[in-house]
Amino acid sequence: MKVVIIGVGYVGLVTGTCFAEIGIDVECVDIDKQKIQKLKKGISPIYEPGLDEMLKRNIKKKRLFFSTNLEKALQRSNAVFICVGTPSDDKGKADLKFVYEAAKSIGKCISDYMLVVTKSTVPVGTSLKVKELINEAQNQRGVAISFDIASNPEFLKEGAAISDFLKPDRIVIGVESDKAASLMKKLYKPFTLNGHPIFFMDPVSAEMTKYVANAMLATKISFINDIANLCELVGANINEVRKGIGSDQRIGKKFIYPGIGYGGSCFPKDVKVLIQTASDFNYDLSILKAVEHVNLAQKEILFHKINKHFKGDLSGKHVAIWGLSFKPQTDDMREAPSLVIIRKLLESGATVSAYDPVAIDEAKRILGDSIKYCDDEYEVLIGADCLAILTEWSEFKYPNFKQIKKQLNSPTIFDGRNIFNAEELQGYGFNYHCIGNNLKTSYSS
Ligand SMILES: NC(=O)c1ccc[n+]([C@@H]2O[C@H](COP(=O)([O-])OP(=O)(O)OC[C@H]3O[C@@H](n4cnc5c(N)ncnc54)[C@H](O)[C@@H]3O)[C@@H](O)[C@H]2O)c1
Repeated sequence: MKVVIIGVGYVGLVTGTCFAEIGIDVECVDIDKQKIQKLKKGISPIYEPGLDEMLKRNIKKKRLFFSTNLEKALQRSNAVFICVGTPSDDKGKADLKFVYEAAKSIGKCISDYMLVVTKSTVPVGTSLKVKELINEAQNQRGVAISFDIASNPEFLKEGAAISDFLKPDRIVIGVESDKAASLMKKLYKPFTLNGHPIFFMDPVSAEMTKYVANAMLATKISFINDIANLCELVGANINEVRKGIGSDQRIGKKFIYPGIGYGGSCFPKDVKVLIQTASDFNYDLSILKAVEHVNLAQKEILFHKINKHFKGDLSGKHVAIWGLSFKPQTDDMREAPSLVIIRKLLESGATVSAYDPVAIDEAKRILGDSIKYCDDEYEVLIGADCLAILTEWSEFKYPNFKQIKKQLNSPTIFDGRNIFNAEELQGYGFNYHCIGNNLKTSYSS
């Protein structure tokens, strides 16, 4: 078996490496020459736990190859996975130019039967458009090589991508033919042996499943954030409320942690695209519009708390930040709440220094020298007027509070991820602010 992966980002690289891990020959193709050069040497362009070792192992075993030459890669392959990016444009529509480019290239290159799998998150009907584009490209060549299409949305989470791929909650596959279904079944067999379910359906339902999954998760996050804000007003503690509702099995414990809003490369754009899809069909998806609205406001909430604390005057104030990535265990900063907060702090005249275990290089690329970067979580506190926690990295959860207090100008913490216990922090003499719990804390230093 040989498969080709087009687009070697978070999804493509993890997919290719995991397929190689189960013994399939994989060739990963990207238009980014620098990325391919690095990958050929076994250097991963992204941070993902467990990926580096698996990458090196499979390159060494000669099961995993990298190239910029799609035509050559497709030779003697059984399937090709389109894993390119699908960012949303300024109107909220999915920008499908990379998917369409990939489809056209496949049509121009295939020389034998091929299963063409769309793994990128794409709006309903895209897999059928992929088929159309491949047919058009073949017509221009004057050939009619048989192929099938499949939609196979990816549900991996950055930070746990390898284990999500190897042990999926489910595999969703949209197909139009038995041949495509049996090839996909064969490819995924090793991942389903331990009872992980595989669902076959039509391509449109598979495409829809991906958006609905992300929209549901985003809805849970915005719901709990909205309720957390109300808890602050009525004097309830969201942490208690969360436990109280989460133990109801119909609700569940996951994705009801309040914070500073969802970010990343998927939820914001997928919510937008689903709203746009509904609008294309003259349907007003009002629930998701509210989800998006709440999220945009929530990304600013910690800034407003900081601003209020300093009585609306942040000029000359110095804010230390722990955590820049949109969530722990990744260096991805796409749509990260940290970017919104940092930009608002800078606009208000504050200075910012930041520490993150893995996202500093990415932050430098986006924010340049507008803020100071530190290699250590305590160094970043020196001379700061407060600490703001923006990503819940595990290493932040049991810090040396004495040292924090010593380094900061004033013992003030804004915890955007509720990683600390309010009473405990109050006991240590911190002025502690979190989300959804307005405990009156002691302000003694
Ligand atoms: N990142 C995630 O956590 C995640 C999870 C599930 C689904 N998805 C979806 O998977 C898709 C890919 O996401 P990502 O985060 O891996 O994207 P990414 O931006 O990290 O990577 C995309 C890659 O595609 C390459 N590319 C673009 N056009 C190409 C072409 N014509 N030929 C070859 N390579 C090309 C780019 O150079 C880039 O390396 C998106 O649709 C996304 O919504 C992402």
